[in-house]
Amino acid sequence: MSLKVLSVASEAAPLVKTGGLADVAGALPAALAAQGVGVTTLLPGYPSVLAKLGPKPGRAVHKWDALLGTPARLLAGTLGGYPLLVLDARALFNREGGPYADASGRDWDDNWRRFATFARAAADIAGGAVKGRSFDLVHAHDWQSGLVPAYLRFAPQAGGRTVPSVFTIHNMAFQGYYDAEVFAQLGLPASTWTVDGVESYGGVGFLKAGMQLADAITTVSPTYAGEIRSVEFGMGLEGLVLARSNRVHGILNGIDTAEWNPATDPHLAARFAAGKLAARRKNKRAIEQTFGLTRDDGPLFIVVSRLTWQKGMDVLAEVIDHLVGTGGRLALLGTGDAELEQRFLAAAARHPGRVGVRIGYDEALAHGLQGGGDAILIPSRFEPCGLTQLYGLAYGCVPLVSRTGGLADTVIDANPAALAAGVATGIQINAVNPAALASGISRAAQLYHQPGAWKRLQTNGMKADFSWRASGAAYAALYRQLIEEQG
Ligand code: ADP
Ligand code: GLC
Repeated sequence: MSLKVLSVASEAAPLVKTGGLADVAGALPAALAAQGVGVTTLLPGYPSVLAKLGPKPGRAVHKWDALLGTPARLLAGTLGGYPLLVLDARALFNREGGPYADASGRDWDDNWRRFATFARAAADIAGGAVKGRSFDLVHAHDWQSGLVPAYLRFAPQAGGRTVPSVFTIHNMAFQGYYDAEVFAQLGLPASTWTVDGVESYGGVGFLKAGMQLADAITTVSPTYAGEIRSVEFGMGLEGLVLARSNRVHGILNGIDTAEWNPATDPHLAARFAAGKLAARRKNKRAIEQTFGLTRDDGPLFIVVSRLTWQKGMDVLAEVIDHLVGTGGRLALLGTGDAELEQRFLAAAARHPGRVGVRIGYDEALAHGLQGGGDAILIPSRFEPCGLTQLYGLAYGCVPLVSRTGGLADTVIDANPAALAAGVATGIQINAVNPAALASGISRAAQLYHQPGAWKRLQTNGMKADFSWRASGAAYAALYRQLIEEQG
């Protein structure tokens, strides 16, 4: 049976990206096509998305005079060759800045309205509002799409179909939590203002609503699916996770192996494969040049990350002197908390030639770093899945990670048993604090100086399968099960 699924996301690569959600939403259509599932993606009409639809996106395929009060229309395009729908609601999305915040990084005040409207549109579309486009299921991602299951269940459009919904949590830390006052403007029946509906700790919880009302909840790794049952990782919603635990699934993200393939990557100075690791040297020279690092024989550590507490970047800032002390160098690409940015810039000034820092977002440079770095540092406090360790594995850039979430599920620590069995792919640390990270860095530096062992780590990672094959099949099986249940 071939299925039609509407995937609802606030970002999708290559059209708009601030993090891993975009990589995943961008890769799902191809991953699921292989399983006989046709995915149409719905995105908000940010300027960057509208611009890429071309100068003449064509006629609107649907119009709303007032979608939660805002005039809007739906445009059609393509995302990596697969069907795309774009919600063009100028008053809400056509502004300069990022998808969620203005140019200075301040969240838009009306984010609740922007993403409630987006979810309302998604529910209409999934219910069959657009002529010629019908769907069997809707797959909503993160808090920005959290109200989709609420509208489908409690405020379906007149004559609309009821389709089952899957809600994926990519990050429990972003909950879309708003004051109770906004509830009256969401267009939901008063009866949904309860703990079984969209109410959460006295306010409106968009993520909570998705978790409460979707037919299935998924998160992006098996370990994170277990962790969010605890107070430490559940961030106030652990009770809900436990209450619905028979509906919670952990499905690991894959990577887009066309976009992230060292043998064909156009962003690399030299392309390479597992048997041709020497070619990576040229990529390392390119990094040294870009980051102003002196050439030497020690390990070159890299970072490609949001600079935030989640990612343990404050802990990394504490151990840079140690890293340099072991003979290592560091090339860091990232953007995020202003204070952390300053700390890394200060470290670069303290260690000229040994530490290079680029504050900013640069897709090409992210590829270049994975292609030439020796080890990528990911000391996250929590990590629903993480993609940069997977890119590191695919590119022979050995991941040094904390043992949490998807990092625990994808990296095999170079402990004596794994080394003896020849299966290790990286280094795991057990805790996120300066002592643990420093000792992980020392272990990495020691292994790096044993060329046979290091090469084995690299090639093991490069040969592992992180494609979407298994996870695409897992999503497809879940979709089919829900559709069957609904009869
Ligand atoms: P998260 O979504 O929590 O930020 P992931 O590891 O899942 O973490 O995904 C991050 C994605 O964003 C990866 O594709 C990574 O390469 C990319 N990325 C992060 N920071 C930067 C940056 N400064 N420049 C370019 N790409 C970046
Ligand atoms: C989130 C998580 C990250 C995950 C990504 C894609 O941003 O922080 O761990 O890989 O979503 O699912």
